[in-house]
Amino acid sequence: MAGLTSSTIGRKYAMALSAIFLLIFLVMHLAVNLLSVFGETAYNNASQFMGYNPLIQFIMQPVLIFAVIFHFVMGFVLEIKNKKARPINYAMNRGSDNSSWSSRNMIISGAVILAFLVLHMYDFWFHEMNYKYINGLPVEESRFWGDLHAKFADVWRVVLYVISFVLLGLHLSHGFQSSFQSIGARHPKYMPMLRKVSIWYSILIPLGFIFIAIYHYITQ
Ligand code: HEM
Repeated sequence: MAGLTSSTIGRKYAMALSAIFLLIFLVMHLAVNLLSVFGETAYNNASQFMGYNPLIQFIMQPVLIFAVIFHFVMGFVLEIKNKKARPINYAMNRGSDNSSWSSRNMIISGAVILAFLVLHMYDFWFHEMNYKYINGLPVEESRFWGDLHAKFADVWRVVLYVISFVLLGLHLSHGFQSSFQSIGARHPKYMPMLRKVSIWYSILIPLGFIFIAIYHYITQ
């Protein structure tokens, strides 16, 4: 681990691995939350299973939290190192001529996602930890859907979530292909395919989350 994070290449590799892990998490998180649109029972059952399964709670969840924190810390470290390595921007380098906005501003979209996650953890995760582990309240399968639905009654929360999901899409539009390239997927034969999957992923995943937030708002 120390070896991975002590060189620039190692750091980029470790960053990419944590990104790929989070890309997989996002698909699963979207799938579970989409159930809330199709029916209360399906969503309650899935949340009950995930919320009380020891493998998910005590192994997957800590790994996920570690991956999230690691990804953000390494993102900031890489940004600072890059800035130090090139303190003066090349006078002739007009960024927009040779790179996209999202690739030049990963740190900005990342910071917005970090701010979103603070609100999101406050909204759902702390509430859940409080319920189960601090207050030790009994299993009550029917509570999950109602709790989620109630959160989206507030238009400002919906607006903040939707803005964050748009920034998430921009972050993913560069991050998806960049992370696969960092772990070696650079073969010219596969690049067009990687680019296509990256574009579709970065559109469909945020759109799915936007749909859930707006669905719960308009069905209050
Ligand atoms: C409308 C969109 C979303 C909804 C309704 C939603 C819902 C939830 C809920 C209910 C939980 C608590 C799970 C539990 O511990 O029981 C949760 C946790 C979490 N969410 Fe979301 N989420 C959404 C979008 C996102 C996005 C876009 C991200 C990442 C950028 C994200 C990252 C997380 C993380 C890291 C956790 C804590 C880990 C976990 O327990 O699963 N969520 N979310």
